[in-house]
Amino acid sequence: MATAAASQPVAQHMPRHVAIIMDGNGRWAAQRHLPRAAGHRAGVEAVRAVTRAARAMGVQALTLYAFSSENWRRPAEEVSGLMGLLKFFIRNDLAELVRENVRLRVIGDYRRFPADVVALVDDALGRTAANTGPILAIALNYGAQAELVTAAQRLAARAAAGAIPVEAIDGDAIEAELETRELPPLDLLIRTSGEQRLSNFLLWQAAYAELLFVDTLWPDFGPDDLADAIRAFGQRQRRYGGL
Ligand code: IPE
Ligand code: IPE
Ligand code: MG
Repeated sequence: MATAAASQPVAQHMPRHVAIIMDGNGRWAAQRHLPRAAGHRAGVEAVRAVTRAARAMGVQALTLYAFSSENWRRPAEEVSGLMGLLKFFIRNDLAELVRENVRLRVIGDYRRFPADVVALVDDALGRTAANTGPILAIALNYGAQAELVTAAQRLAARAAAGAIPVEAIDGDAIEAELETRELPPLDLLIRTSGEQRLSNFLLWQAAYAELLFVDTLWPDFGPDDLADAIRAFGQRQRRYGGL
């Protein structure tokens, strides 16, 4: 729930689009001598709290990295546990997202997930399709390099068919093919757990995003940490190559 403090603007320059690499669930569990699955479960609680807080603070778009195209390399049991938690999240939180006028979006090739998960995701997307409020984009089986490859192939196919000249393949044309095309430009990219890499997330979109790496493990990341991140963003001076 939005607290009084959370509903106050936390910074003069609010980021319109915040993305989070939610990392550290496994280490959170290991610290407690719990199975990794317990860390992922705690991570879902953090998702709930942070998405609510982002809405309360007026963030227009929040993109969460939930499953990368490389996460298939994990043991099958962990992968299916993550799918189970995605279903749990949708079943528990969809009504609230609908009520709160949230536009749910998915980036990534989620159709490679098991059929029941795909059906649930499609239903959730359909039920928030008419909403007009803040965007919650969840990255499922997402990889930025594949996203760029697909964009390049589509544009090349159009050029090869003579529908567009090669010179029409510019930055705007590529952006129009990205899965984030409906979202505002990425302002702030946060990664939890102390790792300082992008792990194939939003490579194009991050070109001029402010990057923030925090040591907090994802299950411990809460509304106050988001407020701190947004405050830190407000202190940054973005120059875009100018002065
Ligand atoms: C992030 O936590 C969640 C997913 C990648 C789905 P991790 O599971 O990567 O946690 P660590 O990095 O092992 O601590
Ligand atoms: C990135 O975390 C993916 C998600 C948070 C979903 P990983 O834990 O998979 O990244 P690496 O393997 O440490 O780069
Ligand atoms: Mg990790």
